[in-house]
Amino acid sequence: MPEESRAVIIIFGGSGDLASRKLYPALFNLYRRGVLAEHFAVIGTARRPWSDEHYHEVVANAVAGAHADAEQVHAFAQHFFYQSHDVTDADHYITLKNLAAKLDDQFAVGGNRVFYMAMAPDFFETIASHLKSEHLLTDAGFNRLIIEKPFGHDYASAKALNDSLTATFDDDQIFRIDHYLGKEMIQNLLAFRFDNAIFEGVWNKDFIDNIQITLSEAVGVEERAGYYEKAGALRDMVQNHVMQVLSYLTMPKPKSFTATDILTEKDKVFAALRPYDLAAAKANFVQAQYVAAQIDGKTVPGYRQEEGVAPDSQTPTFVAGKILLDMPQWQGVPIYIRTGKRLTRKSTQITLTFKPVTAPLFSQAEASRPDSLTIYIEPSEGYSLQLNGKALGTGFDVEPDELRYRHDPTAAAAAPEAYERLISNVLEGDQTNFTHWSELSASWRFIDAIQAAWSQETTMPTYPAATMGPKAAFDLLERDGREWFWQPRRVQLAD
Ligand code: BG6
Repeated sequence: MPEESRAVIIIFGGSGDLASRKLYPALFNLYRRGVLAEHFAVIGTARRPWSDEHYHEVVANAVAGAHADAEQVHAFAQHFFYQSHDVTDADHYITLKNLAAKLDDQFAVGGNRVFYMAMAPDFFETIASHLKSEHLLTDAGFNRLIIEKPFGHDYASAKALNDSLTATFDDDQIFRIDHYLGKEMIQNLLAFRFDNAIFEGVWNKDFIDNIQITLSEAVGVEERAGYYEKAGALRDMVQNHVMQVLSYLTMPKPKSFTATDILTEKDKVFAALRPYDLAAAKANFVQAQYVAAQIDGKTVPGYRQEEGVAPDSQTPTFVAGKILLDMPQWQGVPIYIRTGKRLTRKSTQITLTFKPVTAPLFSQAEASRPDSLTIYIEPSEGYSLQLNGKALGTGFDVEPDELRYRHDPTAAAAAPEAYERLISNVLEGDQTNFTHWSELSASWRFIDAIQAAWSQETTMPTYPAATMGPKAAFDLLERDGREWFWQPRRVQLAD
């Protein structure tokens, strides 16, 4: 049995979509595993005037999957309390403090508090300052803050937010979520790199020609235009998820698998991001927006036709770019990244292409390609290694062979979801899978330079929905004599 955690968890944004889709199911799974048992309570806060009974229904509905036992769901929901709350009203924090103190007693929690900011970012700073001024942090147990993205809009706003959070919480009490760090296959990157002698020695500029990172989505902007219009693909996906994946792929070996040692090595990567001036940013980054397309007789709307999107919106829904790291291991190795909405299919995958052998013994058949390793993050999870082998027959041509492994989909589906891992990390006080200010600040500075270059553009390039982006994204590699390894043609329409 895992050790039971004790905490009063206060969720700002308790009536929201994230809470219902991700947080309540994750908390329920922790409850099923015994990480949360008797000694915990959750206070959901939001503006809406809900009763505890209604809140219990919301929580029960959120966790009522096929395998949920009704009695267990009921018992779980009894740990939830709702407090209608205006985040700008100091008096409300006093009510919240009193409720938290009462629940702390009732469930014998021992003073541990988790504050979870799971709402629109406009009030993060207001909440943090009230938590301090109204004394919601306890002296008895731990106090931890979980904060969702977006962590700022650019470097200046991220810094202002960080300054305001650190006025209330110590840095080691702040857990900045990047849900990609909770994914099974992202965590696996470190095991893969550092626990396989065959890769450890070749994971560098001497053997690797280029790295490609694709985070492709088939869905459009969905109901999130209000947020997305201001963010766009660069801030929404590159500043955080892509940069984190990049750092896991390229960081030197940490001394140990601890938060401090991992951060030390990740910081080396962030410090090595080659900064771009305006001209370099324009040359190395591509933005675009999806336009309507006909797929299988169905019209897929363009971004500007989506609900809540301005008809002349200049928000990019696609980004491709080339990133260089000025560090000895990676000097000269381009890292090509791309991400976008309404692309051909949903897939997160990484390909490392190795340099060709200097003096091949056999003639290369036309089909042969350099060796490459692809790591599949989602939806399928696994690896494939493409090698060259002799073609069957009397000749001596080489052709590509593929070694392929995929996690069993049933076992993969049963593994804990990202939020379950991350919340359990917070309860344990483990910062390994969270982003730190040093990484965020470096990544924002890099992104700001690209954003500055784009702000000079007057037109927004486009790509038809259900394709892999604009031609410029392909030209980006072609001019270096390379191409995207993954070029899916089969369209999988998202709902
Ligand atoms: C979120 C972005 O951080 O990540 C969304 O805000 C995006 O726009 C999502 O859809 C993708 O996450 P995943 O886990 O589905 O790849």
